[in-house]
Amino acid sequence: MGKREFHGVVLMSLCLWVCGVTASVTYDHKAIVVDGKRRILISGSIHYPRSTPQMWPDLIQKAKDGGLDVIQTYVFWNGHEPSPGQYYFEDRFDLVKFVKLVQQAGLYVHLRIGPYICAEWNFGGFPVWLKYVPGIAFRTDNEPFKAAMQKFTAKIVSLMKENRLFQSQGGPIIMSQIENEYGPVEWEIGAPGKAYTKWAAQMAVGLDTGVPWVMCKQEDAPDPVIDTCNGYYCENFKPNKNTKPKMWTENWTGWYTDFGGAVPRRPAEDLAFSVARFIQNGGSFVNYYMYHGGTNFGRTSGGLFIATSYDYDAPLDEYGLQNEPKYEHLRNLHKAIKQCEPALVATDPKVQSLGYNLEAHVFSTPGACAAFIANYDTKSYAKATFGNGQYDLPPWSISILPDCKTVVYNTAKVGNSWLKKMTPVNSAFAWQSYNEEPASSSQADSIAAYALWEQVNVTRDSSDYLWYMTDVYINANEGFLKNGQSPVLTAMSAGHVLHVFINDQLAGTVWGGLANPKLTFSDNVKLRVGNNKLSLLSVAVGLPNVGVHFETWNAGVLGPVTLKGLNEGTRDLSSQKWSYKVGLKGESLSLHTESGSSSVEWIRGSLVAKKQPLTWYKTTFSAPAGNDPLALDLGSMGKGEVWVNGRSIGRHWPGYIAHGSCNACNYAGFYTDTKCRTNCGQPSQRWYHVPRSWLSSGGNSLVVFEEWGGDPNGIALVKRT
Ligand code: GAL
Repeated sequence: MGKREFHGVVLMSLCLWVCGVTASVTYDHKAIVVDGKRRILISGSIHYPRSTPQMWPDLIQKAKDGGLDVIQTYVFWNGHEPSPGQYYFEDRFDLVKFVKLVQQAGLYVHLRIGPYICAEWNFGGFPVWLKYVPGIAFRTDNEPFKAAMQKFTAKIVSLMKENRLFQSQGGPIIMSQIENEYGPVEWEIGAPGKAYTKWAAQMAVGLDTGVPWVMCKQEDAPDPVIDTCNGYYCENFKPNKNTKPKMWTENWTGWYTDFGGAVPRRPAEDLAFSVARFIQNGGSFVNYYMYHGGTNFGRTSGGLFIATSYDYDAPLDEYGLQNEPKYEHLRNLHKAIKQCEPALVATDPKVQSLGYNLEAHVFSTPGACAAFIANYDTKSYAKATFGNGQYDLPPWSISILPDCKTVVYNTAKVGNSWLKKMTPVNSAFAWQSYNEEPASSSQADSIAAYALWEQVNVTRDSSDYLWYMTDVYINANEGFLKNGQSPVLTAMSAGHVLHVFINDQLAGTVWGGLANPKLTFSDNVKLRVGNNKLSLLSVAVGLPNVGVHFETWNAGVLGPVTLKGLNEGTRDLSSQKWSYKVGLKGESLSLHTESGSSSVEWIRGSLVAKKQPLTWYKTTFSAPAGNDPLALDLGSMGKGEVWVNGRSIGRHWPGYIAHGSCNACNYAGFYTDTKCRTNCGQPSQRWYHVPRSWLSSGGNSLVVFEEWGGDPNGIALVKRT
């Protein structure tokens, strides 16, 4: 062997060694390239804190069986860093465990670090303390913000690296995301926005993950970051460089439910159609947002008025069960697409018109041929002639022919739905109750000011609740005392719910909604001669998660607060002395825990409170046999929060009845989130998921806090079958 050949062999074996072991993810104009191979990747969002670690393996396996290659998740900053520098990566926030489980199942991960994530998650994922960093402004060219964002992003990247989780290290993460849908914000704020985009991209790329970064809805994503599409349809999307692949990071499988809103649905046919259309137009990565939506446990839901259920009409329902016919219909779609993969990655499609509203997209190479035949008409069936064949196409549908001859799938032909039932397993609980008094300004820990304060500024989101308390003095010579016309109290609030107590009696409740969180209480109130105690309980229902500088949005009673109909005319109470108390008494006593609940006297038997405001209820129950998912039917309750064995299953608000316009889903054609909405006239959410793994085989405690009045005897534990 000559010197040259010897070198060649060494180089080759070096390459075999290095190239064989070192994995890589790159991309070109067609697709993400994994270890030298272009891939058509089907992805689905499963957000780890929206289910329990015990549910993860099953969800991931079902995703795999459903034909997914990738699991996509956001990273939830406020769950991981509840106070500055104090990190939490356990239980539902055990990100490393989640990623490793995906790896064990043989799937890839798309890690959307954000750290702004939107996601109907409290404060869009930002920790509340971030708002109070001096000089900070979120998501713009602001030094304190950029420093905090970089610190957390780097923290996550190094955690992933330490665990060798990037594909470049042999792990499952093939892609990451920085920011989230920043394009529209940048468009609104201009130059500082542009500078921030550049900085964010550079900062992310500088973290050297060895796998590509994407920015969704970011038309000016700086190279090498890939801009991607989000929406119900993305067939016409084009990345900002012809060297980047056409990717869809959020194909909305339904939509979220808000308290007071109808329950959105998206037909499986339309969802499949949108995917097939994207792929035939050269798309190579599709992610279902959500594949499993899950539950907003505790106080994690944000965006204002977002329900505790985040079911999303996803292919796997909130409880992890298959949502049919959607799950199966997509599974078959994925099979058909996978059969086409060799042709899809090899060449760009040739488009043929087959008549009015009829098209074929043909991917043909010497070795492979795949065709998609589409009927875009929303009403009429069509017969298309393609090659030597005749093809029948339902309206708004695409047929897939992995060999350019045989139809293996049509997006409009779905299987049967499954009937799901909520069957009561226990509805005879022995309830005990405890009524808490409206707070009083004489309480030691109340604070006072001659002003109305913004709510989150005071609570720092440690509780949904803030008491505003003041005194109203009424003279014996007030005219209304004789003429029987009680004065009108008006209180204006930036949101989100307000309970008004006068002399400890509930005088009324008002609330806003997703479209407008602001509210005004205005009603005649009963006042007596002398001092009257006015206590306003202001309730936040999640912090905002979206909008330009959403961190500046206010909540709480900002005023004015006035009393009209006195001898003096209208009395403005806004700048008199107000006392504040953060949270409920029951919260500070931890009544939801076993040790805390023994600190008060509970009422039992026939005297248990019903339809009373500010009532805590507790009971115990044993876990039903079997593995069927469980829920609480809270249809008889108003609003509040529920705990099982000390853990919050979320806010309940079945008292908010879905209004607006409802529409069944018998629809073929352009879909928007307002198209199919169900449940009008019913509670937006009646059932609340109780994770099996939170129960023990012995006795389990159930605690309900009710704000304005409910009947606990109507509560049932149900199983979903
Ligand atoms: C998108 C956003 C997601 C989620 C979704 C609605 O615009 O990127 O995080 O909020 O809307 O469910």
